[in-house]
Amino acid sequence: MDTRDLARQMRFVGSAGGWRALWAGWRRYRTDGRDLPRRGAERARVPGVALGAEPAPGGGVVRFARSALRIRVAMGGAVFCGWDGAEPEPSYALAGGCPEADERAVLEPDLKTDGWRVVSERITVVVSRHGGVEFRTPGGVLLRAESPPRWWDAPPGPARWVQRSRTPADAEVFGLGGRAAGPRLPQGAYRLWNTDPGGAFGPGDDPLYVTMPVQLVVADAGCHLVFHDNTWDGRVTLSAGVEGAGSGHDRPGGCEVRFEGGPLRYWVMTGPPGRVLRTWTALTGRPALPPRWALGYQHARWGFGSEREVRRVVAGYRERGLPLSAVHLDIDHLEGHRVFTVDERAFPDLPGLARELGEHGTRLVSIVDPAVKAEPGLAAYDSGTAADAFVRDARGRVVRGVVWPGEAVFPDFTDPRVRRWWGGWYAERLERGFAGVWHDMNEPTSFAAFGDPSLPRSARHAMEGRGGDHREAHNVYGLAMARAGFEALRELRPEQRPFLFSRAGWAGMQRYGGTWSGDVATGWPGLRASLSLVLGLGLCGVPYSGPDVGGFSALPSPELYVRWLQLAAYLPFFRTHSAIGAGPREPWEFGERALECARAALAERERLRPYLYTLAHVAHRTGAPYARPLWWHDPRDRALRGVGDAFLLGDALLVAPVLEQGATRRAVRLPRGRWYDTVTGVAYEGPGQVLLDAPLERIVVLARAGAVLPVAGADSAVELEVWAPAVGRTGGGVLIDDAGDGWQEPVTARFATRWHDGAVVVEREGEQEVGFPVRVRGVES
Ligand code: NOJ
Repeated sequence: MDTRDLARQMRFVGSAGGWRALWAGWRRYRTDGRDLPRRGAERARVPGVALGAEPAPGGGVVRFARSALRIRVAMGGAVFCGWDGAEPEPSYALAGGCPEADERAVLEPDLKTDGWRVVSERITVVVSRHGGVEFRTPGGVLLRAESPPRWWDAPPGPARWVQRSRTPADAEVFGLGGRAAGPRLPQGAYRLWNTDPGGAFGPGDDPLYVTMPVQLVVADAGCHLVFHDNTWDGRVTLSAGVEGAGSGHDRPGGCEVRFEGGPLRYWVMTGPPGRVLRTWTALTGRPALPPRWALGYQHARWGFGSEREVRRVVAGYRERGLPLSAVHLDIDHLEGHRVFTVDERAFPDLPGLARELGEHGTRLVSIVDPAVKAEPGLAAYDSGTAADAFVRDARGRVVRGVVWPGEAVFPDFTDPRVRRWWGGWYAERLERGFAGVWHDMNEPTSFAAFGDPSLPRSARHAMEGRGGDHREAHNVYGLAMARAGFEALRELRPEQRPFLFSRAGWAGMQRYGGTWSGDVATGWPGLRASLSLVLGLGLCGVPYSGPDVGGFSALPSPELYVRWLQLAAYLPFFRTHSAIGAGPREPWEFGERALECARAALAERERLRPYLYTLAHVAHRTGAPYARPLWWHDPRDRALRGVGDAFLLGDALLVAPVLEQGATRRAVRLPRGRWYDTVTGVAYEGPGQVLLDAPLERIVVLARAGAVLPVAGADSAVELEVWAPAVGRTGGGVLIDDAGDGWQEPVTARFATRWHDGAVVVEREGEQEVGFPVRVRGVES
């Protein structure tokens, strides 16, 4: 039992659900003890010597004595490698199946190494005679070198396997889903198993709710993304490289990927970060475009308790002139925590409440947990039972767990039939007046006083008809639930874009919506972890996310609350949320000074909405996250790679939040070029470091010289904020806009700016007139 298990057990003992959780842990343990296939005697295997190779579209197959490797370059430049006969499909990650092969890429003998190689436009793959694989840039620079893999066969069960790689000594790794310790991942082991940490988490907690075998590796030699398309339990161990200070004795960075089963197949894509994300989201799906209102500020709380309290909070925002885009109702609005019900005493007229809030532009969002209370007479349970929708064990009995409503059963979202059945229930949410859904507890979590707080590993799943067990299904449970919800909302309300975010997920989850931090601990470390999560997820292709402002678990100090709100005002998903009993999060609950700080942060968010909405469209078109690490345009700037406390919002802004208690100044590392302090207008030249004032009233935000940002003017109409380019230089920006919802093609306006006759001029591509009021900044300095 690890310390986390122990902590969980301590929390449960003596609590109301304590005995139930103990029983549930025991029940899961017993089920697996009985049903989990025993591993036979293991035999280690390596590929052995190469016997020959044959070409195939986009590459070919190299045959070894004890395995084979298929290489297939896809249109768009991603390279697929599959050992032991693994093909790209079936896959939960791929969006539209496997992309077509790039016929220009061919497998040919490599005279230098006596092996084979596949040369493609962006990457050269070299395969050695013993199964080592190298990925090189077209110029021949090494990006990644893999040793021959090793399997442990244990028929009739799946083989475990390990693959060890070397990366350049200066390489840094980002990604692996939502990790609290990033965004640059320190050396150490990272488990690939979606996990509810059971209570609030901080930077030291790992794994969390969204794990993904996706690594973005950044080195002087170039960037690459490697994705191991395997949903099983795994572990990635990173060891840092060491540079030999010019002695020529660099020690490369190391990466070991281990899986407990499942195919050894992976994709590699290279290029600058923007191109890598474009290729990655072409493969796994472009991020869903949220409706415009989802970029506004949102207030959630576990424990509103009644419609009256919701009205009180909403009125508090309105009376103070503070914007509020949505209110999220947690499980306390349900009848005894049962999904697809409402506590009619406390919430007698939800449709009425939704209408009333809607008149002032505030939407209602509903929590949806996958677990259905095992209670005959409960409509969702009865209809799920009739539809044979719930996960069964190896002996055919419906698996039970314990979640908020008590004894519960779990829909098998890996079954298309079950996804449709479940999706039908979203009609109930829409009829209640909800505008969007918040998927929770879908790792899936089943409370247990010890061991893994999830379903038994032996539980059976349809796996789209192939059949499999929870070892394979666990990590895609949340992803498949998101698919069910997204497809249902599209069908039930075809004229609107679904608003959906999910606590758990996997590679490709961006197709259906976003995610959030989960139960991030109130405290300064939690604030830092929030940013790490958002940046890391963005580099895995999931751009829409954000933290629980103020932290989930306790009452923040006014200072912490303000700093959290200031940061989150620049993150895509801007929502406050808190646990039951963790105190209020209304901006007026922290004193007059905090209220004024919050007012400024909320107003600035509103002002930036056209820019944020443009970034939402950019993410949807290209996969580029709204919030990007500082090295996004300068991956070779090593100092920037280590920066975890600042980020770029789109191309135009650099945001440097205060993440330390008591701090009133911020050291900011600047990427190259000129940057303006947006408050003082003072210009600074990067690369380099500056120290800027950051009293509680302000968060440091710098604008890139030459940036043209669409912002909301006084009457909410779009105007352009233009930051003067350095003399002799040019700049530009883009505005993408649409009706705010629906599916009509957006309008794109591109702007360029330059100096002309001693003045900054702005022009719009293809038009005589700019068409928007222009405000030039930065000329005063
Ligand atoms: C866990 C979620 O992470 C949290 O946001 C929510 O408030 C609770 N479940 C209760 O539904």
